[in-house]
Amino acid sequence: MKNTILVTGGAGFIGSHLVEALASGDSNTVIVFDNLSTGRIENIPNLENVSFVRGDVQSEEDITQLFSEFTFDYIYHLAAVASVAESVNHPLETHRVNMDATIYLLEATRFQEKEVHKFVFASSAAVYGAEPTLPKTEQSIVDPITPYGIDKYASEKYVITYGQLYGLNVAVARFFNVYGPRQNPSSPYSGVLSILVRVSKQLRKGKNSLFQIFGDGEQIRDFVFVEDVVQGLILLATKKEIQAEAFNIASGEKHTIHEIITICETILEINIPLSYGKTRKGDIKQSYASIDKIGKIGYKPQFTMRQGLEKYMMYE
Ligand code: NAD
Ligand code: UD1
Repeated sequence: MKNTILVTGGAGFIGSHLVEALASGDSNTVIVFDNLSTGRIENIPNLENVSFVRGDVQSEEDITQLFSEFTFDYIYHLAAVASVAESVNHPLETHRVNMDATIYLLEATRFQEKEVHKFVFASSAAVYGAEPTLPKTEQSIVDPITPYGIDKYASEKYVITYGQLYGLNVAVARFFNVYGPRQNPSSPYSGVLSILVRVSKQLRKGKNSLFQIFGDGEQIRDFVFVEDVVQGLILLATKKEIQAEAFNIASGEKHTIHEIITICETILEINIPLSYGKTRKGDIKQSYASIDKIGKIGYKPQFTMRQGLEKYMMYE
């Protein structure tokens, strides 16, 4: 049976990989809804069964219009300001996208005539905050310390509560640090690996470049390759028994920033010059995941850090 699938933020880094996977084969019609603030039209696969609708998730009018044109079987809500640092600098503006928009979408979904098979929300490890118990399981204390983390947690609660109150089929994915091709390195707030890969490639071409570390470089993250995230998202959407619950999506591996720099240096046979700046406001020192819960429904990461980085660096 043909499914119509909405991917908000589908022109972005993670969203575009999801769209690619959903659109392969022709049994799905995929609608990308995006305002291209950080996403790019070139990221959207040029396929007959993929359509692009330019719109803003902060606009109730745009959402109403979207739901008047299409009836969705699945909804993946990924549109957001993905930068923690940007939420610290612009809490009100990011709140409108990262929280209010979630309710607009949930409301539209609730009143859609046909019941949606699953509404999957892209949350974040940022909900766990700086509470030091590790690894983070879905039972860990939630204590966000930035506007970004607060909005992600509030959105999660709305999503789960819509499941419980109105019987909407919903699931929440808590991504850890995602990396891979098409992650945009152009802002100072971009994901650390996108910046590191850009610097590495410049050095490889013989150009001068420098990587700046915020803090002492010993902060720990769980970096997960984007194709593994897509695997996790599709599992959460298609496993009917998953209802109104949150799941970590991560690699289950942990690395310091210094370690990932060494891996890049080894792969490309270069030395990366470093400079050190102050720790960013709201930065979490250590974040890594237990993936046991999602493992029980069949999730298995396919990429080690080195394999993922190699694939990322070969891209282009
Ligand atoms: P991204 O910036 O590449 O993608 C976000 C997309 O949303 C972009 O295409 C952007 O244009 C779109 N967008 C932003 N504001 C919008 C608006 N008002 N209306 C419509 N579209 C809008 O970021 P990403 O890394 O692909 O993140 C995707 C999702 O995953 C986000 O919800 C982010 O918070 C979450 N997440 C990302 C990571 C990570 O490590 N990258 C980790 C945890 C959670
Ligand atoms: C990232 C995601 C966020 C997600 C969270 C989940 C991005 C932009 N942010 O936040 O959406 O919810 O993971 O865990 O993808 N750093 C440097 N030098 C740089 C850039 C960063 O040292 O040039 C450091 C940062 O200070 C931080 C670490 O690298 O300690 C990771 O930073 P970043 O990639 O921005 O990710 P998070 O803040 O963890």
